[in-house]
Amino acid sequence: MKAEQHDTILVLDFGGQYSQLIARRVREQHVYSQIVPYTITAKEIKALAPKGLILSGGPSSVSAAESPRPDARIFDLGIPILGICYGLQIMAIMKGGEVERPLQKEYGFAHLTTLKKDSRLLQGIAPQSKVWMSHGDTVTSLPSYFSRVGATENCHYAVVEYPEKNWYGTQFHPEVAHTVEGNTIIANFVLDICQAQADWSMESFIELQIAEIRRIVGKKQVLCGLSGGVDSSVVAALIYKAIGDQLVCVFVNNGLLRKGEADLVLEVFRDNFNIRLQYADAQQQFLSQLKGVSDPEEKRKIIGRVFIEVFEQEARSVGKIDFLAQGTLYPDVIESMSPSGGPSVTIKSHHNVGGLPEDLRFTLLEPLRELFKDEVRLLGKELGLPDEIVFRHPFPGPGLGVRCVGEVTAERLDTLREVDAIFIDEIRKAGLYGDIWQALACLLPVKSVGVRGDERIYEEVCSLRAVTSEDAMTADWFPFPPEILQRTSTRICNEVGGVSRVLYDITSKPPGTIEWE
Ligand code: XMP
Repeated sequence: MKAEQHDTILVLDFGGQYSQLIARRVREQHVYSQIVPYTITAKEIKALAPKGLILSGGPSSVSAAESPRPDARIFDLGIPILGICYGLQIMAIMKGGEVERPLQKEYGFAHLTTLKKDSRLLQGIAPQSKVWMSHGDTVTSLPSYFSRVGATENCHYAVVEYPEKNWYGTQFHPEVAHTVEGNTIIANFVLDICQAQADWSMESFIELQIAEIRRIVGKKQVLCGLSGGVDSSVVAALIYKAIGDQLVCVFVNNGLLRKGEADLVLEVFRDNFNIRLQYADAQQQFLSQLKGVSDPEEKRKIIGRVFIEVFEQEARSVGKIDFLAQGTLYPDVIESMSPSGGPSVTIKSHHNVGGLPEDLRFTLLEPLRELFKDEVRLLGKELGLPDEIVFRHPFPGPGLGVRCVGEVTAERLDTLREVDAIFIDEIRKAGLYGDIWQALACLLPVKSVGVRGDERIYEEVCSLRAVTSEDAMTADWFPFPPEILQRTSTRICNEVGGVSRVLYDITSKPPGTIEWE
């Protein structure tokens, strides 16, 4: 991605888990930011003409023999530099300072005391400010001409500067939300020290991505698997805007979708956007393969395998395809490799459409891989997608398959779809949909006795779950006003056959996961 007409801040990635977050914070200042591997040469940087460089954090120790170092000539470019954590330490070492590993590593909150009132990096920061530390090594001796302008209880050189060169460094992480005034520090660096123009927006992102997609794809065809979720929808809308009918979308109805979901996808993409869309109604195929299977892992495997089979069949019917578009977001990318090819340690692995056969290998097109979920939503709005898709709760790939606890049958799926639809409807009516990370219903393979009219019934139990969360890694159950649960329960019992009892799940994550299976 290039940004000729916009000022750019380059983030040199040393493999830190927050590198993308730094870029995002810069974008929040309406300045374009690009992440590049730390191995980029000074010459390459010069060609990109950035207004500033940020050296990211990273898992290495600067004292290790193989520790990653930037091109030493970046310090001769006359471009402002901000080193964060490892970035500060490597700058200190390369300029003649010293770094040591104290006995005690430091993780968590610290109180930053500003030692110099007129430091440009710390303008507007309270004399005492809460910051977030996460480091083993620490600078113990500053290079010549550097001075310290901020300190914490355990960190003598928490903020340092060499203002004549516009070189700055922080031992803490200004990019994480825990650093209360972190955005001000980033803004001071980007807007004041680097003098970058704040003219970047989602619109500019779209323009650049369109140009880039056209350049990469040329006259070839792109295939995109649409799930109806926000990520794949935004990817499809963006690529369609770039290359129109060279994009073919495949939507697989696995029979494990929510009520009305397939119709919504067809209406939005085929009817409104006019995108070439292959609709594969594979409900029976999935159901027959799932027959008699109750084990959750086994169900997931079957659903994954059948999806690949159906997708493959659809892909072959389209003809020559060179690219596969995926709605991979930044959090999905924190994988074995850092996004810019830097040396990131493995945090988690994630697979979207893995498992395609050798002869169906496509080049991946992942235009959202620098973005976070809320940025993708913003992008979706800008592209004209309806709120129903843009602000949709996350929904797992295996869909209702993992919410139909026990065996998946057409009848149980229909029951679950009705229960789920009522729950979501009541949440929307109460205006709470946006306050909840994810709301779902599960059908349990447990029967209980009840009475309906004058009749004794013996039917299954459903469990409702709604959670708040930042990133799905941890979650807490949502405290509904009782009348909403009451109304939902009454409606489910009255309107849905096959359910005798309604439970509300009050398990946090951990120990419970968000899904039941
Ligand atoms: P858990 O249940 O692990 O879920 O707390 C965390 C988040 O991931 C979603 N999830 C999945 N998404 N395939 C997916 O694409 C899956 O197999 C899967 N399992 C869970 C879940 O809905 C929640 O948002």
